[in-house]
Amino acid sequence: MKEIKIGVIGTGRVGLVTAAGFADKGFEVWGVDNDRKKIEKLKNKESPFYEPELDELIKKNFERLHFTEEIKDAVSNCDILFICVGTPQREDGSADLSFVEGVTRQIAGCLDKYILIVEKSTVPVKTAEWIKKVMRLYLKKNVEYDVASNPEFLREGKAVYDFMYPDRIVIGVESEKAKNILLEIYKDFNSEIVITDIKTAEIIKHASNAFLATKISFINMISDLCDKVGADVDEVAHAMGLDERIGKEFLKAGIGYGGSCFPKDIKAFKRIGDEYKLNFSLLECVDRINAQRPLKFFEKVKSALWSVRGKTLCIWGLSFKPDTDDIREAPSIRIVKILHDEGAILNLYDPKAIPEFKKVFPEGERIRYFNSPYDSAKGSHAILILTEWDEFKNLDLGKLRSLVEVPIIVDGRNIFKKEEIAEKGFSYYPMGKPPCESF
Ligand code: UGA
Repeated sequence: MKEIKIGVIGTGRVGLVTAAGFADKGFEVWGVDNDRKKIEKLKNKESPFYEPELDELIKKNFERLHFTEEIKDAVSNCDILFICVGTPQREDGSADLSFVEGVTRQIAGCLDKYILIVEKSTVPVKTAEWIKKVMRLYLKKNVEYDVASNPEFLREGKAVYDFMYPDRIVIGVESEKAKNILLEIYKDFNSEIVITDIKTAEIIKHASNAFLATKISFINMISDLCDKVGADVDEVAHAMGLDERIGKEFLKAGIGYGGSCFPKDIKAFKRIGDEYKLNFSLLECVDRINAQRPLKFFEKVKSALWSVRGKTLCIWGLSFKPDTDDIREAPSIRIVKILHDEGAILNLYDPKAIPEFKKVFPEGERIRYFNSPYDSAKGSHAILILTEWDEFKNLDLGKLRSLVEVPIIVDGRNIFKKEEIAEKGFSYYPMGKPPCESF
């Protein structure tokens, strides 16, 4: 067991992976959450959400993992506390930091020895200054503490891998002591460590997400041009990506980005620019292009089917991306709403996200859920692909052809090669590429 004891406040997708990941590196870890149900599940070695490899990681390291509802348990046992609570979006686009503030107040109320408080949640620049202010206001005993920033870059669905093998580790500190503690806990990671001041570290996180989202909206803008003139966006992206200055990642055109990070972070970062009276309108365009993607997809559906009223449409993929059950800000939500409002009958299938989706769209006469992609396709007038789960890439297209009423696939994620689809008698409508009609 390693000497430094780690506390993680908030056992959501970032916090729980961080807790289980550090336990796997040999640290004793306290995971704190005020959601009793979550803590009960965790005490039974169960993750409250689906994330590949996470259940195994929790089970494997359970002897080093403690779960509690009480922040004071972590404060009294730990040398370092990671704040991983949510920073939801407020109506005006800015980040709601009330959870961060509340947690900080509780830490201050029970702190009786040195501790390093580290913000890991995505927060606006200067949040650490507020954390320090709150600490000064509510500290009961005259003890020392440090505040640092160590933003997290993990992706849902690949979070365990990203924790173990990060592209970089960013540490924003303002004391030698804080720096040394963070360097010590990251010393077994084989990644470049970037040490900065706290404000710089805070900006690195927002700027990284904003840049990645910009790449996606950029290629989606090009995708629309390709659609208009009959060019192929995937080939454009491939050739662009071969230029090392551009890079090939995050140039996949489709129905846009979703999830709990990009949509919220882009709006929050734009607000920060506004606050300082800077021209961050680039991010407004990124956001606007993304918001239009579900409508662009609907246009594509109409170009294949003309009217959707009364037609049975099979929808594959509801999560905002593969390998997660997360549907937060998923484009599927808007697309299902549009198609439902237009009078279509929807057969929905997703390998993991159906329970979450049912909370937004309960089963009904025109919203039906299925346990297999084949069952959902039976009698359908078109198959619409909204998430690029591997499962969809490996289906028996011949069998599928025999199940559908009309052989049409509208692919919001461009997962198929048009030749292989056409060979099986399907008409294929990808995004930013010419359609391939079989009639
Ligand atoms: C994102 C970042 O990639 C992580 O580095 C960061 O830590 C995380 O946000 C966060 O701030 O916590 P995540 O939201 O899990 O991670 O998912 P991504 O894999 O980045 O995908 C985001 C969205 O972009 C998905 O809806 C995906 O379908 C879409 N996307 C991605 C595209 O439409 N095209 C692409 O080429 C890539």
